[in-house]
Order: sequence, then structure tokens, then C-alpha cells
Amino acid sequence: MTKVFASILNADLAHLADVSTVVADAGADYLHYDVMDGCFVDNLSFGLPVLQSLKRCASLPIDVHLMIKEPLRFVKRFAEAGADMISFHIESDSDISKTISVIHACGLPCGLAVSPDTPLEQLYPILPLLNDNDYILLMTVYPGWGSQKFMEEVLQKIRALSAHLKAEHRNLHIQVDGGIQAETAARCREAGADYMVSGTYIVNAENPQAAVASLRER
Ligand code: DX5
Ligand code: ZN
Repeated sequence: MTKVFASILNADLAHLADVSTVVADAGADYLHYDVMDGCFVDNLSFGLPVLQSLKRCASLPIDVHLMIKEPLRFVKRFAEAGADMISFHIESDSDISKTISVIHACGLPCGLAVSPDTPLEQLYPILPLLNDNDYILLMTVYPGWGSQKFMEEVLQKIRALSAHLKAEHRNLHIQVDGGIQAETAARCREAGADYMVSGTYIVNAENPQAAVASLRER
């Protein structure tokens, strides 16, 4: 079943509590919280203290997407600050197996995030370390900013990953992130993705409820 993750990166961050209420009322399933360190990507967003504050006012569970160079240094602290699931990039500098273990030891689902230029062959050897409730985040833009254009070429990658998971009898979720709106979401779902991250399209919508609904199966 499709789940909708509302990214707050491009929302009015001076009113985060209101934003979290609006997207919850609109029917989103999760908040998506993008952490950037100015090293892994050339942008800075928000970190631990903002997550702690958001956690106190948010009714939705929070999916933390770490776009940082050394996720292993921080995953436990993000779990303690209120993350309900955590993804990190396989292109980061941390030991992947240890980072997955720490996320699991915190009792959280783990996501492996894959940038557009990274081949799936780099991901496949790591998949045995994941559990059934975990997820693969295939980036459909280059990580770092909201409001970018969806990269068509990633559709092929979603199809290939989906086929691979079926062949291996794995029940991992496939999450997509970047340029997701009604039409691109439909194509990603058809290709095999079930977790839709969407930012600008939801937070700038005149009717956020219709926007969230349009990301799910008709
Ligand atoms: C990009 C972030 C995304 C971003 C999506 O690096 O990971 O989560 O907020 O924003 P939209 O939906 O506007 O492309
Ligand atoms: Zn993200």
C-alpha cells in the first residue's frame, strides 16, 4: 500500500508546528525530515534540536533522511531526538554495516538511500543486512534541494530494483524522493515504488488534502 511522506524542507520553517498539523490533516502518513551537513551535500538544513522541538508538536511519525558525511556519528542521537525511521546514504563515509546495526539496535526501520548516479550493483551486496520493514530510498533528484525536476532515468532503476527484490523474495519498501507530484508518483508506483516523499507539491498546494490524495492509487 502506498504511504505518503511529506517533506518539510521547503515549508515555512518559522511555523513548523502549523506545517506539521496541515500535512497531518491533509492525510500524509509521515513527516520527512531532510538533514544536510554542508559536506555530503552543498546545503545546510536542520539537525537535532529542531527535530526535538518538532517531535513535541507533531502527531505524525518522523522519517529522518540523513544527507550527511558521517551518519554513524549521529544515528543514535537522531533516534533519541525522536526519529521513527532513519535513512542514510550508501555513498557516505560511514561503515554501512555498523550504521545499519545501530539503527536496528535503536528499534527503528533503516533506509538505504541511493543517489541518482550510484549503480544498484553497489546496493545489492548490502541488502542481506536489511529486515523486511526496512526500505531503499532511490533519489529521483540529486540530493541537496527541494523543488528540483524529477529525473526520468531513475524509473528504470526502480523497475530493476523491484524485479531484483521479487526474485530474491524480499519485502523491502522502495521510497522515491525528489520532484514527486501526481503524475511522477503514478509512474513511480507503476515501476514498483510504494513510499512517496513529496515536499513542494504538498506544502505549496492550495489544497494539501487533494495533493496528498493524488499521490496514492486511484
Ligand atoms: C532533496 C530532499 C527531498 C526534498 C523533496 O534533497 O531529500 O526530500 O525535500 O522536495 P520536492 O518534493 O520539492 O522535490
Ligand atoms: Zn529527502
